[in-house]
Amino acid sequence: MYTAEAPSNIALIKYMGKTDTASNTPTNPSLSYTLKHFRTRVEAEPLSNAESDCWEPLTLERWTAPDLSQKSSDRYLRFFNQLKQELGIRGNFRIRSANNFAPDCGLASSASSFAALTMVAGEIVREQKSSLVGRDVLAKMSQKGSGSSCRSFFEPWSIWDEYGSVPAEFPVKGLLHQAIMVGSEKKEISSSEAHKRVVSSLNFNGRAERARERMSQLIDAFQGENWEQAFAVVWAEFWDMHSLFETSMPPFGYMNEHTLAALAEVKSFWKEHGDGPLCTMDAGPNVHLLWRDDQRAWALKFAQDRPNLKVLSEEAIG
Ligand code: PMV
Repeated sequence: MYTAEAPSNIALIKYMGKTDTASNTPTNPSLSYTLKHFRTRVEAEPLSNAESDCWEPLTLERWTAPDLSQKSSDRYLRFFNQLKQELGIRGNFRIRSANNFAPDCGLASSASSFAALTMVAGEIVREQKSSLVGRDVLAKMSQKGSGSSCRSFFEPWSIWDEYGSVPAEFPVKGLLHQAIMVGSEKKEISSSEAHKRVVSSLNFNGRAERARERMSQLIDAFQGENWEQAFAVVWAEFWDMHSLFETSMPPFGYMNEHTLAALAEVKSFWKEHGDGPLCTMDAGPNVHLLWRDDQRAWALKFAQDRPNLKVLSEEAIG
C-alpha cells in the first residue's frame, strides 16, 4: 500500500486563462499561500488481477471521502494512467482518497487531490524502481492534472509561471486562514470552463500585464511588511478576476448577495481598525481571509461577533 498527503493552496495572484490546455500552461504568473491544514490523503493499493485502475472513497476517522461523480473519478483515473505512463509504473491500483476538510468548506479540493495523487505515483516509483522523482518534476506533472495543484508542492508560498512552480519565502508567514461560507452548491461553471470563457472578455486584454504588475507590487508589500498595501493588491486582484467573469461573452459569475455582505464586513473591519485580514475569492461565492499570526485574537473575534456569517477557521480542522 502506498500513501501520500498533499495540502491545498489559496492564490493571491490568480491563475485565470491558459495558453495551452493539455499542459495547463497559465497565461499569467500566480502566487499562492499553502494551506497546510487542508489536506487530501491518497492510498494506492496494487491489484494483482485487475485490468484497470479503480477509484473508491477512503473511509478514515476525521476524514471526509469526496463524493466524486463518474466524470470526476474518470478524470482522476485518466490522470493517474497518464502518470503511470510517464513514470513507467507497472500494474494496476485501487486508488482511495479523502480530504480532512468538508467538501462544502469553500475550498476547491482539486489542488490537494491532484497533488496527492501525483505524490503517491512518486512513492510507487520509489518502490518499483528504487529511484526518487524530484518535487519540481512531480509538480510539473501534477500541473497537467489540475493547474493550481502544482503550487501545493511548496510552502509556505509558491509562485507559478509558464516555466513551472517554485517555492517562495517572504517575511510574512504563519497566516491563519478563514473561509466565509456563502454557498456550497455545485458550481454551474467549473473553473476549467471559466479559464476558457474569460478570453472572450474585452478586459482580458492586458490581464497578464496587470497580474504581473500586481505580483511585483505584492512581493514589494511582503518584503517591506506593508500589510495594508498587500491587502489593497490582493483585493484588486480578485475583483479583476471576477470582473473578467462578469464581462465574458456570455457573462457568468459566482458572487451573490451574501458574498457582497461578507465583503462589506471585511471592508468595515479595515475601516474601523486601520488593519485587518487579506481577503480573496476563488472561482466560487465564498470569501477567504488570511490573518497575520499577531491578529489571531481578532480573527476569532471577527467570527464570533458575526454569527450571521458562517466563518470557518482553519483551527477547527484536524
Ligand atoms: O486549477 P484550476 O483549473 O481549478 O484553476 C483554479 C483557478 C482559481 O482557483 C480560480 C485561481 C487560482 O489561481 O487558484
